Amino acid sequence: MTAVARKQLPLRPAGPDTVDALLAWYDDERRDLPWRVAPGKRANPYRVWLSEIMLQQTTVKAVIPFYLRFLVRWPTVEKLAAAPLDDVLAAWAGLGYYSRARNLHKCAVVVATELGGKFPSTVAELQRLPGIGPYTANAIAAIAFGEAATPVDGNVERVVARLFAVRQPLPTAKTELKRLAATLTPPRRAGDFAQAMMDLGAGICTPKRPSCLVCPVQQDCAASAHGIAEQLPMRLERAERPQRVGYAFVALREDGHVLLRKRAEAGLLGGMLEVPGTHWGDLLPPVKEALRTAPVRADWWAVPGTVVHVFTHFRLEVVVYRALVPNNATLNFWAEPDRCRWVARRDMHGAAIPSVMRKIISHALSET
Ligand code: ADE
Repeated sequence: MTAVARKQLPLRPAGPDTVDALLAWYDDERRDLPWRVAPGKRANPYRVWLSEIMLQQTTVKAVIPFYLRFLVRWPTVEKLAAAPLDDVLAAWAGLGYYSRARNLHKCAVVVATELGGKFPSTVAELQRLPGIGPYTANAIAAIAFGEAATPVDGNVERVVARLFAVRQPLPTAKTELKRLAATLTPPRRAGDFAQAMMDLGAGICTPKRPSCLVCPVQQDCAASAHGIAEQLPMRLERAERPQRVGYAFVALREDGHVLLRKRAEAGLLGGMLEVPGTHWGDLLPPVKEALRTAPVRADWWAVPGTVVHVFTHFRLEVVVYRALVPNNATLNFWAEPDRCRWVARRDMHGAAIPSVMRKIISHALSET
């Protein structure tokens, strides 16, 4: 029988020494992010909360400029609470998932008016506030208040699945991964530990081709020892995203204003501005039928190509029509003129226009 070279098993299971190694690495190698403070120091809860809400479903790189702009404009929770919701939504435009911005404002109002401007420090109390789920509550409690709380997102799940070589697939493994992560959380420096796990997941323990050779906790990593780091975490196959299709009508007035409409407050992209269009459904209606629903009578012209936008729960493909209309154009009643407004192109930057609508507008105007 030939001898098969065996990967070395970890010298020790992940535990307090792993945490020490990770914290030492964090002290030297942590990412310098604007919401962070020096290791061992407590961060300002308002800033931690703001960053954590922005970081839900959005990358660090995309968040940084928004975070800095928000802080300059609204340096305290009281200032944010006093701002009109529309200003907050407009400043949020581009970050996506706009219900976060509505909840951000709601939460600021609760903290400023009912809690004397002070964020609560425990996970349970934080979770009672609008827009704060288990992950965010744990992150704020650990980072801003030093509570031994454990925020577990996809990155942390991956790190823990590898450290302990958990082969059970996600999503079933979630509870076990949370439990294992909590066993590591140290009573002191819980915030630094949480952020060290995030940095490890983002930079070293990556989904593909993890950099195990430079990992500060490789010697404690069961998956690395078994040579299966890249295979973990396992996942049950996900159902494909459903597809939806629709038409959008970009009406461009002779003075360069574009027709936009405020969406209903509830639901997807609630309260944001949209390009009027048809319902987003499973099938594209015939063009003739769609054109009868256009917001204004005009010579509608099909812009070549389509706009694709991927939402969490579906993929949307939009066929865009464009028309040039006179300055005194009257809107059709079914376009709900009360909710419509003509927006100058130069004012669009600061308006509450979600990314999908910005894509549609640029697609239509790129042909002018
Ligand atoms: N993702 C979520 N919270 C984060 C944080 N505090 N630092 C880096 N990435 C994060």
